[in-house]
Amino acid sequence: MSGIADPETGVRISVRAPKLTKSHRIHERLESKNYRGEITIEGGNDRMPKLNPQLETVGSGFAAFLAPPGPEVIRFTVGQPDFETPGPVVEAAKLALDRGETAYTRPQGSEELCQAVAKHLTKFNISVEHEDVVITPGCKQALLYGMMATLSPGDEVLLLSPAWPSYDGMIRLLGATPIHVPVNRENYHPNMQNLEEHVSPKTKVIIINSPNNPTGAVYSREETRALVEFAVKHDLWILDDMIYSTLVWTEEGYTSPCEFAGGPERTITIGGWSKGWAMTGWRLGWIASTPEVMAGVKKINVSAATHVPTFLMPAAEVALGLESEVSIMADSFRERRSIVHEAFSSLPGVIVPEPEGAFYILCDVSGTGMTDIEFATEALEQAQVQVIPGSLMKGGEGLIRVSYATSAENIREGVRRLRHWLESRS
Ligand SMILES: Cc1ncc(COP(=O)(O)O)c(C=O)c1O
Repeated sequence: MSGIADPETGVRISVRAPKLTKSHRIHERLESKNYRGEITIEGGNDRMPKLNPQLETVGSGFAAFLAPPGPEVIRFTVGQPDFETPGPVVEAAKLALDRGETAYTRPQGSEELCQAVAKHLTKFNISVEHEDVVITPGCKQALLYGMMATLSPGDEVLLLSPAWPSYDGMIRLLGATPIHVPVNRENYHPNMQNLEEHVSPKTKVIIINSPNNPTGAVYSREETRALVEFAVKHDLWILDDMIYSTLVWTEEGYTSPCEFAGGPERTITIGGWSKGWAMTGWRLGWIASTPEVMAGVKKINVSAATHVPTFLMPAAEVALGLESEVSIMADSFRERRSIVHEAFSSLPGVIVPEPEGAFYILCDVSGTGMTDIEFATEALEQAQVQVIPGSLMKGGEGLIRVSYATSAENIREGVRRLRHWLESRS
């Protein structure tokens, strides 16, 4: 076997002569300076997954929908709030640095912060001991910990699809299998019959994300109750991703599975500061569950991260205490949600179910006679508007995702451009 053996692992790494593959062509277009040729690892981790098989399906053009475009393009693709992190949060981090809070600390997160998270969760009728909270590097890592604590290779995980693509990647990373269960096409809410048809003896986990990325749906109390009953019936863990729980436009708001019989003992509650507090780059999240689950999560966290940066914890605590700053941001999204819904619904051939939470709408563009890929490609080229084609997510064919985390002026101008382009086609 050719190549160099890694002295520690014995894994042979072969560096081949540069050969153009589909993904290289994309990278070349994006950042030609970084082109380094093809590196393959032999005899190493044979579980290394194809992280998003949908990208293969869509083909080499996908980068155009994800890469930052030129300033002339209106971008409806960014999944982060267009606000600065609130000042008091930034100030608290600076003060912690000034106090010299830069050493190792309690691995699961400071007691004060774990207490603040437990208190925050009571607002959603979730009752956990602060001892059963772990602070993680982002909600993403909390999700991975939750999956690591509950899944073995070969297990199956139910996803309500179209789903945020990272779930699929994480599940595959652990050697488990994502099972995509279609939601109702007219409103993107769960379809219990579809779930019953996809559950199997191998199913271990169901992931719930409400308010939802990419659909903008918020599941009602009754739907959440039905999901818990389903999990109890089939003895499943519930991974509840509540990251958008402060951005809800329905009367009932976010409902935790912990509110229903059988919920608390099987739910792993996961959230974070990225979206509701405009703190995406701080990489802070939480995971909370029963003492048994959290004993496993604590072991994983200690091995994987030790803890999040010490001086960020007082700042995260301050964030949880803010009310007006958080509601100003949420109110602004609520206003833009009405603008975006009305504007996109008025486009010929485009159907937009009522957006109920988060800052996304998922539009059905099949009435335009184009596939979602054709729509997104032409929108970028002809109208200089960037949207994400649903085909990047399993079950998203015929749909495009629009993020309204952009100004009202951008929303109006983007829709004006799209209308002009769509009308000139017909
Ligand atoms: C549904 C969902 N969960 C989790 C995350 C990741 O959150 P974080 O930035 O805290 O890792 C995102 C980010 O887009 C998301 O949309």
